[in-house]
Amino acid sequence: MRLLTSAAAIAAALILPVAAHAADAPVQVALDASKSGAVIDRNIFGQFAEHLGSGIYGGIWVGKDSTIPNTRGIRKDVVMALKALKVPNVRWPGGCFADQYNWRRGIGPERKAAVGEPNTFGTDEFMDFAGQIGTDAYISVNLGSGTAQEASEWLEYMTAPIDDAFGAERARNGHPEPYKVAILGLGNESYDCGGAMSPDLYVNEMKRFSHFVHSYNAAQPMKRVAVGHDSYTDPVMKAWKGGSWSWGIEALSLHYYATGGWPPHLPSTGFDEKDYAALVKDAVAMDGVISTYSATMDKYDPEKRVALAVDEWGAWLAPTPGSNPGGLVQQNSQRDAVLTALSINVFTRHADRVRMANIAQMINVLQAMILTDKDKMVLTPTYHVFHMYVPFQDATFVPLTFDAGTYTTNGVTLPRVDAVAARDKAGKIWIAVTNIDAKSPATFSVSLAGVKATKASGQTLSAPKVDSVNTFDAPNTVVPKAVSAKVAGGTLTVTVAPASVTVLGLE
Ligand code: AHR
Repeated sequence: MRLLTSAAAIAAALILPVAAHAADAPVQVALDASKSGAVIDRNIFGQFAEHLGSGIYGGIWVGKDSTIPNTRGIRKDVVMALKALKVPNVRWPGGCFADQYNWRRGIGPERKAAVGEPNTFGTDEFMDFAGQIGTDAYISVNLGSGTAQEASEWLEYMTAPIDDAFGAERARNGHPEPYKVAILGLGNESYDCGGAMSPDLYVNEMKRFSHFVHSYNAAQPMKRVAVGHDSYTDPVMKAWKGGSWSWGIEALSLHYYATGGWPPHLPSTGFDEKDYAALVKDAVAMDGVISTYSATMDKYDPEKRVALAVDEWGAWLAPTPGSNPGGLVQQNSQRDAVLTALSINVFTRHADRVRMANIAQMINVLQAMILTDKDKMVLTPTYHVFHMYVPFQDATFVPLTFDAGTYTTNGVTLPRVDAVAARDKAGKIWIAVTNIDAKSPATFSVSLAGVKATKASGQTLSAPKVDSVNTFDAPNTVVPKAVSAKVAGGTLTVTVAPASVTVLGLE
């Protein structure tokens, strides 16, 4: 994973223009709907589901005989909640897990358990889950401990017609139709848990896997994602530029976690404004990291044909006390909601290069959308932000100009606010505003050019405190509320709560 370590890097990465002004002065924003940027690829709203802790077992899979309502073993409540997010893709089975995964142990009537891994949720169950929530499969193959032959046969199992031996085996396991594999990960963190490979070794392996591990369904093209890293990005892109017909990549990955300092130590509940700012600072700083990666990619690919896939991102906090630390269990608060909005905003500003992202992780692990405990389920503040941002999927970025001002607390200076806008396919303009300031409300005064509107309405997500969370007993502490805003004389005015996220559509 990519961690931010230097305070200088953080300061340099503050992307919004900052200038000192009174905390209660309205933020003047100019929106000109006649201007547009890149399309915000819906795949930046992707998710990540790893065989880790109860991310899969308990979170998605309860088994066909469970008393928890399920469809072929997959929780109905979770499926219903995820459908509402219009999840574009789910990355599976890892993470570090992917580079030790033996897919053959997870298919057919006789599952072969591994230590800590029953393999009852395998390829067919994942594809069933993907179908139930209506998402694309992003399969990360084992480039670490597995061979190119094994990975190639896995693709054959998933994508070949039934006159192929592996396709026939899939049919015997209940699915005659080939599956669609939309995205293929060529290893995971190969510089570290994926095999600790030197850049040269990784580039060679990436070429081999990219050539041999292909889809057997020509009608369904597959995007291949190479591993990126500070030491890999340049050699991988250099190899891509000098590439041949026999191999290729369509994306390069970046893993970026907001931690407030490694190892993860910030608590996920019961924290104060100091810990709020420490984490938000890392989220804001992702902009600088993406700019650095993009600049390296631009050297070889100025036309931005290779996408940057931020296929692991989110808050990595101290494990919930009493939980198994290996399960990466953490609560999810209003702080995560603000972090989510700021991170999505960063992706939208880089929409020409960042065309995929996967929050870590979907259920019960790290910055989750959903928490479950046996038959109980609760939606997190992060879930609600993803839901509020659905209109930004495949919308066209509309640039805004504004002075973000500053918010200083406990020695940390952050932008006071953030805002992004986009035009959806129906032509409707959406504006998302985040008030980072944890103490003061913010008023936005948005001058509207190139668009006629009489009002704006949408949802706002705020909370009693920055560490407010939803629990199984109190699931509605942090939930979006309807909000509408005045538009008069071509200016939209809205006042939002401290540490809040608001999304409005112009009408
Ligand atoms: O998301 C948890 C872990 O973080 C993943 O398995 C790994 O890729 C990363 O280091």
